[in-house]
Amino acid sequence: MKIETPGTFLSALTAAALTAVLAVPPKTAAAQQTTPADLARRNACMACHGLVHKQVGPGFVQIAERYRGDGEAAARLAGKIRDGSVGTWGRVIMPRQTQVSEAEARALSQWILSQQPPR
Ligand code: HEC
Repeated sequence: MKIETPGTFLSALTAAALTAVLAVPPKTAAAQQTTPADLARRNACMACHGLVHKQVGPGFVQIAERYRGDGEAAARLAGKIRDGSVGTWGRVIMPRQTQVSEAEARALSQWILSQQPPR
């Protein structure tokens, strides 16, 4: 049997999880009741992230501004929420958030990317 690289294994996992998410009819999806803001609070994202300004990690508005117009960003950031990140914004590490499900990570990344700067 061929040993798969972690990258291949992860993309296979992601693809499988996405298929599972898409297969759930919207009415039965539990995520419908919980807003992404609830998810962000419950998963302690707000311990490191501000909505607007940088705290330990970049503000969610800053993230939205950086990736505005990048069609791939939602999927990429959903992956990074679960896998962790370092080096994109600086040298502080964002630990992997494995308590967040694939579907929750998707909802969070779309919500973060939809943030608008306060007027
Ligand atoms: C321990 C602090 C910490 C926690 C908890 C944390 N983050 Fe982060 N986050 C960071 C740091 C630091 C960065 C910048 C990492 C880098 O430079 O690559 C970051 C970056 C990000 C990015 C941008 C990644 C990129 O490639 O631009 C997103 C999106 C994000 N976090 C979402 C979340 C979400 C959603 C949660 C909660 C499930 C969360 N973070 C929890 C510290 C944290």
